[in-house]
Amino acid sequence: MYVPITDDDVPAVAALMNRAYRGAGRARSWAVETDYIGGDRTTVEAFRADLAGRPAATALKWVEGPSFIGCVWLEPLGAGVWYLGSFAIEPERQNGGLGRVLLAAAEDWVRERGGGRVRMTVINLRQTLIAWYVRRGYRTTGETEPFPYGDDRFGAPLRDDLGFVVLEKDL
Ligand SMILES: CC(C)(COP(=O)(O)OP(=O)(O)OC[C@H]1O[C@@H](n2cnc3c(N)ncnc32)[C@H](O)[C@@H]1OP(=O)(O)O)[C@@H](O)C(=O)NCCC(=O)NCCS
Repeated sequence: MYVPITDDDVPAVAALMNRAYRGAGRARSWAVETDYIGGDRTTVEAFRADLAGRPAATALKWVEGPSFIGCVWLEPLGAGVWYLGSFAIEPERQNGGLGRVLLAAAEDWVRERGGGRVRMTVINLRQTLIAWYVRRGYRTTGETEPFPYGDDRFGAPLRDDLGFVVLEKDL
């Protein structure tokens, strides 16, 4: 079940995102970014700043018993289009179908609020992950966005050819 993230949750959410996107070791995600970007995916301060600065957005955690095992950021962009980002599953729980379930639940959340399309950006080199989204019904739009070189809020890029591809799915 998705529940909105509160300010008290932010440290645990930031830690989950960093484990999922940038973690190493036994419980490493199958879809980490560590070949391309070093450092942390986010910080408590950056996540709090986004929550405060983007009031139309909702950050959600997926609650299971006393803990939560996933998170997602959903934000209306206008004209029925919603941005989906910061999507992460606890690494130890990945590759068991949870990603599929939580992505579908996030799409339901958008649909229930009148949204008709989900839009996201994925690092251009993450072809395995892009293929995963395509299997979930997303399509590459042909649009690209530049990687924010020089802005260390997203970590330290290890290559100079990073960018984002835009994916969309009609709900
Ligand atoms: C992307 C993510 C949310 C998926 O969660 P998940 O719980 O592993 O997803 P599922 O169990 O539903 O699906 C696992 C898929 O990975 C595939 N997979 C597993 N290991 C793989 C590997 N080494 N290489 C390629 N694909 C692999 C499986 O075949 C399966 O695909 P299918 O469902 O189409 O058959 C999760 O890996 C994650 O949190 N990654 C880090 C953060 C991130 O990159 N988020 C997305 C940013 S846009």
